[in-house]
Amino acid sequence: MNEYDGSEDDADEGEGGEESAHELRISKIHNGTVIDHIAGGHAPDVLAILGIDSATDEVVSIGMNVPSDRLGHKDVVKIEGRELSQDEVEVISLVAPAASINIIREYDVIEKNRVERPSTVEGVLSCPNRNCITTEDEPVATRFEVLDDGVRCLYCGTIIRRRLTDHIDV
Ligand code: CTP
Ligand code: ZN
Repeated sequence: MNEYDGSEDDADEGEGGEESAHELRISKIHNGTVIDHIAGGHAPDVLAILGIDSATDEVVSIGMNVPSDRLGHKDVVKIEGRELSQDEVEVISLVAPAASINIIREYDVIEKNRVERPSTVEGVLSCPNRNCITTEDEPVATRFEVLDDGVRCLYCGTIIRRRLTDHIDV
């Protein structure tokens, strides 16, 4: 067993207990958003949802497969100077259902929310079916029902199970 018991009192910085004083931490951020408790390996999906790729000039820290009491291993994404839109949070909930979104101001966590899986997502994913009404020129916003293991287009029934991030249209 890990000797570190995770209690608040043991943390050097009074920060609750997922990292001991002996582990290297990802730097705290000044103002922005920390997306924490992403399942191990899914940070790249979260980055894709947020449109962060090699061309970004945003200040971003990424931790992958870092030890976590709650998940065993987790990924973390920290973005300086950015708050997320509701649409972005909804799609993040599909690839990282256990994630928490922490809003940081002046180094303090001023708001912490668990993501919630919505029952439907509107206007954020595109339907891969070329014959779907949402892919024609008509102004029909996409609507997908959220399933346990994917999403289903409410217009044509097409199910997307894998590589959801290839279908983002935020
Ligand atoms: N964090 C950060 N910069 C700050 C403040 C916090 O990067 N200025 C990060 C912490 O490292 C942590 C997350 O934001 O990954 C949430 O911070 P906090 O609520 O202090 O940590 P915990 O209590 O461990 O959070 P939880 O209970 O959600 O696990
Ligand atoms: Zn469709």
